[in-house]
Amino acid sequence: MTVLTISTQPIEGQKPGTSGLRKKTRVFMEPGFLENYVQSIFDGIGGVKGKTLIVGGDGRYFNDTAIQVILRMAAANGAAKCTVGRGGILSTPAASNLIRKLKTDGGLILSASHNPGGIDEDFGLKYNGPNGGPANEGVTDKIYARTTDIDTYYSVDAGDIDLGTLGTTEIAGMTVEIIDPVSDYAALMNQIFDFDAIAGLFKSGFTMKFDAMHAVTGPYAVEILENQLGAPKGTVMNATPLPDFGGGHPDPNPIWAHELMDIMTGENAPDFGAASDGDGDRNMIVGRGQYVTPSDSLAVLAANAHLAPAYAGGLAGVARSMPTSAAVDRVAAAKGIDAFETPTGWKFFGNLLDAGRATLCGEESAGTGSNHVREKDGLWAVLLWLNILAVTGKSVADLMSDHWAEYGRNYYSRHDYEAVETDRANALMDGLRSQFASLPGQSVGPLTVSTADEFAYDDPVDGSHSAGQGIRIGFTSGGRVVFRLSGTGTQGATIRVYLESYETDPSALHNDAQAALSDIIAAADAIAGITTHTGRDAPDVIT
Ligand code: G6P
Ligand code: ZN
Repeated sequence: MTVLTISTQPIEGQKPGTSGLRKKTRVFMEPGFLENYVQSIFDGIGGVKGKTLIVGGDGRYFNDTAIQVILRMAAANGAAKCTVGRGGILSTPAASNLIRKLKTDGGLILSASHNPGGIDEDFGLKYNGPNGGPANEGVTDKIYARTTDIDTYYSVDAGDIDLGTLGTTEIAGMTVEIIDPVSDYAALMNQIFDFDAIAGLFKSGFTMKFDAMHAVTGPYAVEILENQLGAPKGTVMNATPLPDFGGGHPDPNPIWAHELMDIMTGENAPDFGAASDGDGDRNMIVGRGQYVTPSDSLAVLAANAHLAPAYAGGLAGVARSMPTSAAVDRVAAAKGIDAFETPTGWKFFGNLLDAGRATLCGEESAGTGSNHVREKDGLWAVLLWLNILAVTGKSVADLMSDHWAEYGRNYYSRHDYEAVETDRANALMDGLRSQFASLPGQSVGPLTVSTADEFAYDDPVDGSHSAGQGIRIGFTSGGRVVFRLSGTGTQGATIRVYLESYETDPSALHNDAQAALSDIIAAADAIAGITTHTGRDAPDVIT
């Protein structure tokens, strides 16, 4: 077999976003696009000669083809070994676990997460480092820099590898091992949680629906919930991963997981509902008739994590992304532990987890996780909820009610304006920036602005500085609105407006979130001129 040295030239648009590089699938399929990016990753991390990598993805369209390209290129670049999930399948948290467990030099994860899949939809690729987490900004910058001056990539003239059969083969001197994608992950979950208690819950007649949304968590959820914990067959719905996710949008929120929401609000609703996204790192939690916001979920998990064996000793600290509600901060204050506020993007939790300063982390974007891996983890969150429900014997609604009665409630909602022209979105953000000096003290309806600034983060572990991480406007009432441009969209700009208010009055803890936030919503439009800038009179998605 010969190593092929192929001349290439930089291709525009290979700057990684919040979570690796995401593009339309057809863009990834253009000649040299994938190859340039893969070679830039290899060069950006100092080469892969003699190194070991985990490779797998969420099974979306082009997953298997791209893996074959990656394996040939890894071999040509002198990698020692690639460990690949059977069928090219690995959930993002399972890949993170394998990187850590097998102590590899990192991994390549193929996914565009919750974005739809298919030849006309989205594809993505990201590199995770030896700690199992998404590459930090320093590494990401090096990868990007390489995409702008790349002139050569390497491959071998080898045929495709059979990804469907477990075992070890070789490609141009590099070992390829195909492993079961589920078993190591299931074993890790068994170590963390009280499987006997959860199995007991199911034995007692507790009912659940888990919506895998035709995405990667199907096989994981069937194995863990149905086979190991004894939940009845059929507990997991949409359990077979499909290249186009059944034409759906594998994003676990009340809008896209409406099939599950209908079940949970219908007659004979089960006790508990949950869903995960395309690559298995996000989660949605819903009780009978009760949706739990990700911010509330993080707070409830932080308050009760000690009920699961792995966290029985308490939490070192908690961390949330800036736009996530402050609900978890109140739990941390009550427990006397640190609460960190980081920019959006799971990669910012990595240092805190590695340094042992945070045990639980979470984001408003439906991500929750802990120090067991270096990614957010959808099924882990579902299992922690189940563990807590099993030990407390409470329903989701009672657990939420008790939580708000103890800590107060952070009403929370996110309004998204999607596919806005980039110039118009930037104009909205610039308009806000120009008001930083004048806003404090101003009245907007019944509210008064107390603060207005743009969030910047100084990492307490490595001292790195990240600026421009979202515009936040605080009100004297304790409410706030945050404006941010999405870093994961593939079309135009998505403006995210995060709305939050804090309530302690016991008679006002069970109101509708949109109603409770109406003053903040009106203030957000008055200050930012959302309608004027976007030409839209309502958000596209409300979560
Ligand atoms: C990905 C990252 C998350 C992040 C989210 C934000 O899912 O893994 O850590 O919170 O993107 O997406 P956005 O579209 O708001 O930039
Ligand atoms: Zn995801």
